[in-house]
Amino acid sequence: MERLQKILAAAGVASRRKCEELILAGKVTVNDKVVKELGVKADPAVDVIAVSGKPIKRESKIYIMFNKPKGVITSVSDDKGRSVVTDYLKDIKERLYPVGRLDYDTEGLLLLTNDGDLAHKLTHPRHHVPKTYHATVERVPHGKDLEKLQRGIKLEDGMTAPADVEYHDIDPEGKFATISITIREGRNRQVRRMFDAIHHPVSRLKRISFGGLYLNNLQRGKHRRLTAEELRTLQDAAEQSERGQEQ
Ligand code: URA
Repeated sequence: MERLQKILAAAGVASRRKCEELILAGKVTVNDKVVKELGVKADPAVDVIAVSGKPIKRESKIYIMFNKPKGVITSVSDDKGRSVVTDYLKDIKERLYPVGRLDYDTEGLLLLTNDGDLAHKLTHPRHHVPKTYHATVERVPHGKDLEKLQRGIKLEDGMTAPADVEYHDIDPEGKFATISITIREGRNRQVRRMFDAIHHPVSRLKRISFGGLYLNNLQRGKHRRLTAEELRTLQDAAEQSERGQEQ
């Protein structure tokens, strides 16, 4: 159940504020009954909601993969006027919400959807959806240091869970290396803090995979809808992470 003005706004009728005015003006019906007070809740999946006699469109579910550039905030609005992810998704009418977040300085795979249930399953801290990053770090870390990251390393908010870590690219002059790291947690700035802990600060961080989906050749700043197969992969990842939790 959701507040009527929220349902109307999500269906693209008007802004939430304007929808409140429509309700107060007696233009909105739920199952043919006029609703004139704010705060009334309805279930868009069962109730027939209409504005001036015209039923609103059911919101269809939409799933988007976006290649977030660095310097963009994972948010749908910013009070300081900075660039946000939805600035890049203006062609999409549905109200989208990011699935988790990437730091301002991090680029790469970000999912956005209006499917709150799936988003919740994929981002809940107790769930363990794998996320793979390419971290370009200063100098070339020693194998022993990478093993520490693999086993789990102490951060100020506790030990990290085991991670998959391997060299992806090594600068022949030894000035930097790109390490592929897969984590199954989502703590704040976790990858950067893990590399700080072994004294190899991250200079560039890109997420290349989330829940079994891959960014592949999606260009920076571009987005596309998930295929049906990708959606199934993601739903499986959400369920597995849930089951993993129950065991
Ligand atoms: N780890 C980080 O440090 N930053 C991100 O954006 C994601 C994971």
